Formats: sequence, structure tokens, C-alpha cells
Amino acid sequence: MLICRSNNLSSTLISVTLLAIVIVVAVSYASNGLSLLSLPASPLSWRWPSSTLSFPSSTNLDHSPPPAPPRLNPKTALYSMFNCDSDSCKKQNGKMNREVNKLIKELKDETMLRRNKKRDKKLEKVEAELAGARVLMRDAATRKHNNSSSSPVDDPDYVPNGNIYRNPYLFHRSYLLMEKLLKVYIYEEGEPPLFHKGPTFDIYSTEGVFLNLIEKDPHFRIFDPDRAHVFFLPFSVTMILNYLFDPIIRDKAVLERVIGDYVHIVSSRYPYWNQSLGSNHFMIACHDWGPRASWSVHSLYFTSIRLLCNANTSEYFNPRKDASIPQINLHRDEPTMVPGGLPASNRTTLAFFAGNEFHGKIRPLVFQYWKDKDEDILVYDRVPKNVSYHEMMHTSRFCLCPSGYEVASPRIVEAIYAECVPVLISQNYVLPFSDVLNWDAFSVRVPVSEIPNLKRILLGISDDEYTRLHENVKRAQRHFLVNNPAKRYDIYHMILHSLWLRRLNLNIYG
Ligand SMILES: *[C@@H]1O[C@H](CO)[C@@H](O)[C@H](O)[C@H]1NC(C)=O
Ligand SMILES: *[C@@H]1O[C@H](CO)[C@@H](O)[C@H](O)[C@H]1NC(C)=O
Ligand SMILES: *[C@@H]1O[C@H](CO)[C@@H](O)[C@H](O)[C@H]1NC(C)=O
Ligand SMILES: *[C@@H]1O[C@H](CO)[C@@H](O)[C@H](O)[C@H]1NC(C)=O
Ligand SMILES: *[C@@H]1O[C@H](CO)[C@@H](O)[C@H](O)[C@H]1NC(C)=O
Ligand SMILES: *[C@@H]1O[C@H](CO)[C@@H](O)[C@H](O)[C@H]1NC(C)=O
Repeated sequence: MLICRSNNLSSTLISVTLLAIVIVVAVSYASNGLSLLSLPASPLSWRWPSSTLSFPSSTNLDHSPPPAPPRLNPKTALYSMFNCDSDSCKKQNGKMNREVNKLIKELKDETMLRRNKKRDKKLEKVEAELAGARVLMRDAATRKHNNSSSSPVDDPDYVPNGNIYRNPYLFHRSYLLMEKLLKVYIYEEGEPPLFHKGPTFDIYSTEGVFLNLIEKDPHFRIFDPDRAHVFFLPFSVTMILNYLFDPIIRDKAVLERVIGDYVHIVSSRYPYWNQSLGSNHFMIACHDWGPRASWSVHSLYFTSIRLLCNANTSEYFNPRKDASIPQINLHRDEPTMVPGGLPASNRTTLAFFAGNEFHGKIRPLVFQYWKDKDEDILVYDRVPKNVSYHEMMHTSRFCLCPSGYEVASPRIVEAIYAECVPVLISQNYVLPFSDVLNWDAFSVRVPVSEIPNLKRILLGISDDEYTRLHENVKRAQRHFLVNNPAKRYDIYHMILHSLWLRRLNLNIYG
């Protein structure tokens, strides 16, 4: 899973890679509007207004906004940018460096090639439609009254609750535009169970929920690829591992082979992948190995849209093009997934956690400071016989959600369902839907270094403030609910909306 062991190193790698893309854009921009990715490009291209629907700029995000594209000489810059300076870096990342260098060269060659290519008329039309949507969104973003009661549109399903959104009015407009315009093409190649189907229970079920719903979606799915905004690669990382990964032989490369073959097939059979170097294509994965799975195809990793539960910025998760999706643990017999819990004033336990102590690096700290240490903060590896996990989630004021092996934790959604205010303890994690949701309105974020002060922090939240957080958890709940068939504004539609925003952020013809 680890592509790069050291944190410092990996953040250098990220910024270098981002820079690589910036430069590819800069180069293509300089060579007359042939840019492949317009994301961080020129001031002329449209971007999210930074004060409103911007991507999270929170503390531990490794992506500081990219600097203005440097006008470097591509002949030298493109090749020198990915050098590791230290010997240990060279040793550890020789393979990675070679791969990334190769990708950059490919991107450059492709961009140069494009100069002489005729633009595709159908893609130009799709791009024009998106350009229109961007203009409408930009207008919405600059409106004075951005609360949704000022929305001219009558929408019985939309309850304006300013707090939980970064900008409720803009979100609403964007959502409605998505409903009106977004068209998804699903490649038909591939057979179930590895393709077109996903897990429907257990901790990776978000992958399955999305796959299974989009396959039968009568509204967003279209069968004419020439009109599509985005192209779905319908493989399930979890299913591939369930069926093809032998726990004894442990050949992890099986995943990369299946996915590599798949992209090879669709990119040789259809023109769409090559037209955009995969940037308007997307995949979804909730499995821990989701990021790794996409590595075998470099443009899938660095340019395609990846919807991932494991949204770890230290593993090249890039919130400008990738979207974080919630992890949900759906049970076969799903009693804990029925939303609801005690009112704020009836919650008596201050904080609760139960789970394996030895998953990852954060949980051992939580256990070290809080297991059997305090009667208000209950931390268990196994809940005792006289304690019900389900009941504790429903009666505690706060539910601790430390990262385990991976940044995402299904407890976050579990807490939201149980109307328990989640306490997020993670590093390098981009929170799900944080491009539109204001997580600070319905959760508490505690940095890892503050774990010893957890009790003080939680007791420092006044009753009024707690009641507000609790109310907001209930308001945010609908965006995390799984429905079959799907309902407006539920988890499925929020995932689609994340996809819509990423596609709006991409301008293939620059
Ligand atoms: C929302 O906008 C309307 C104007 O359209 C204004 O009258 C109202 O006070 C605003 N509500 C809030 C909560 O800001
Ligand atoms: C809503 O609009 C007001 C007034 O223009 C602005 O101060 C505020 O930052 C906006 N809120 C958001 C979430 O963009
Ligand atoms: C796309 O590019 C690849 C690699 O250059 C090539 O093998 C493939 O034939 C191309 N696909 C189409 C449809 O032209
Ligand atoms: C909450 O507590 C109040 C007062 O103690 C009690 O009357 C009420 O029944 C409780 N509600 C629930 C849902 O337990
Ligand atoms: C469970 O039992 C233990 C010891 O018997 C006791 O200390 C604890 O308070 C009990 N917990 C609950 C929730 O009843
Ligand atoms: C995030 O990725 C980095 C780099 O691979 C890794 O060291 C770290 O443990 C990951 N975080 C979690 C919680 O898995």
C-alpha cells in the first residue's frame, strides 16, 4: 500500500507531482489553448470562488494551493522536476521516479501532439454545455443572499440549513444543475461479479451501493457515449480481491493486472480515453487498496477522477480531481443502520469508543490515554457483556472516530446515524463531501497531539453548543443515508454531486 514510506518524502512527491501537472498545463497553455487539464491553470480559466465552494484548506491538507504556473522551459523543466535529491530518496523511490517521469513525458508528448489534432466536435459540444453551467454557478456564488430561502426555485426536498453547508445557495444551484445536466456513460465491457456489481454489506459497501444504483439509474445513466460528461470504469476493487486474490499466494498485482487490462480494452476500442488522457473517466473504490489499484495505469492515478473512501493525502489523493466518499458498514441484518437516537439532553455518557486497539498508529494513543482511565470517556477494545455497542452509540454525547489502518472510519457514518456527535481524530484525511459540507458545524476535530486533552476539550463544549452540534448531525444525516431506490440528496446523489464538481473543474479544451 505504501508507495513511499516517509511522510516528508511523500509530501514532496505530491507537490512535485502537482507541479508536474501544473507545468503540463502551463506548457499547453503557452502553446495556444490546448491544455489538457485546466485545473490550476491560468487566471482566465474558471475556478471555484475560493471563499465558497473551495476544496478544504484545512490544517493537515498537504496541498497548499499550487503556485502560479511557472513559465519554465519545458525542455529542461519537465525532466528535472522529479529528481529526488537525497540518496535515500533515490534508493527508495527509484521505481516511482522513473514511473512518474515516464508519465510526465507521455503527458507532454500527448499535449504536443494535440496541437495538430482536430478538436472533436462532439466533445466540444459537451464542453460548451459545461461552460454554460460554470457561468451559472459563478453567478450563484457571487449572490448577496446565499441562503437557500432566497432561492427562486421551489424544491420541496431541500431544507435550507445554512450552517451545515459552506454555501447553501450555491450548493442548491449546483445540485439542481447536476440533476438537469449530468450524464454518465458506463462502459459495458466486463462481466459480473468483478464488474458492474459491488459488495452490498460490510465495510466496503459504499462501493457496491454506488455501483449497483448507477447501473440501474434511469436518469443519470445514458447509453450514448458522445453525449456523456463522465465515463465510468465499472470495476469493483473489493470484488476483484474477493474473487481473485489468493490469501496464501498473496499476489497483490492481480488487482493491477485486471484494471490495467480493462483500461487497455476500453482505450483501444473507443476514442474517449485517449481524447482526454482519462481525465473525464472515473472509478470508485472503498477498499483500502483502492488507491493502489489505480496505480497500474498512471493516468488513472494522476488524471482520472477517483472516488475513494481511503482519501489519504499522503497517498496522492488530490482533492481537486479526486473525491472523498463516506465509508459505511452495512450489516446483513441492519439494525444499527436505522437512523435515530436519544435527544441531546438525555445523552449521559460523555464519549464512547469500541474497536481494535492495534489498527494503525492513532488508536494505540487513544487507548494509552483513555482506556480504563476515566469514567466519562469509555474506551473498549471489546465491549463488556453488560454494555451494548448499539445502545452506547445512541446514548453518548460524543462518539470517538479515530483512524484505523486507513484514514476513513465507518464509525463516522455510524455516529451520524446514531445522532452522536462524531469526534474526528485523523491525519491527512479529506472528509467526505467537504467541498459542500461544513463539517465543523456537526463534528469536533481533535488533532492527534491533543488526544491527552480530549476530556478537557469535550467538557469545554457548552450545552448550547452541544445542542447545536447535535441538531446539525440530524440535519446532515440525510446526505449519508443509503436508500434503495435512491432519494434526492442522499449518499448516492451526494457522490454524484462530488463527481459533478470534479468534472466542472476540468476543462478539456482549456
Ligand atoms: C436569507 O436571505 C433572505 C433574502 O432573500 C433574507 O431575507 C433572510 O434574512 C436570509 N436568512 C438568513 C438566515 O440569513
Ligand atoms: C454568503 O454571502 C455573504 C454576503 O455576501 C458572505 O459574507 C458569506 O461569506 C457568504 N457565505 C458563504 C458560505 O459563502
Ligand atoms: C489510444 O492510444 C493507445 C496508446 O497510444 C493506442 O494503442 C490505442 O489504439 C488508442 N486508441 C484508439 C481508439 O485510437
Ligand atoms: C428524556 O429525558 C426526559 C426527562 O428526563 C424524559 O421525560 C424523556 O422521556 C426522555 N426521552 C427519551 C427519548 O428517553
Ligand atoms: C458493567 O459492569 C461493570 C462491572 O461489573 C460496571 O463497573 C459497569 O458500570 C457496568 N456498565 C454498565 C453500563 O452497566
Ligand atoms: C496515509 O498515507 C501515509 C503514506 O502512505 C501513511 O504513512 C499513513 O499511515 C496513512 N494514514 C493512515 C491512517 O493509514
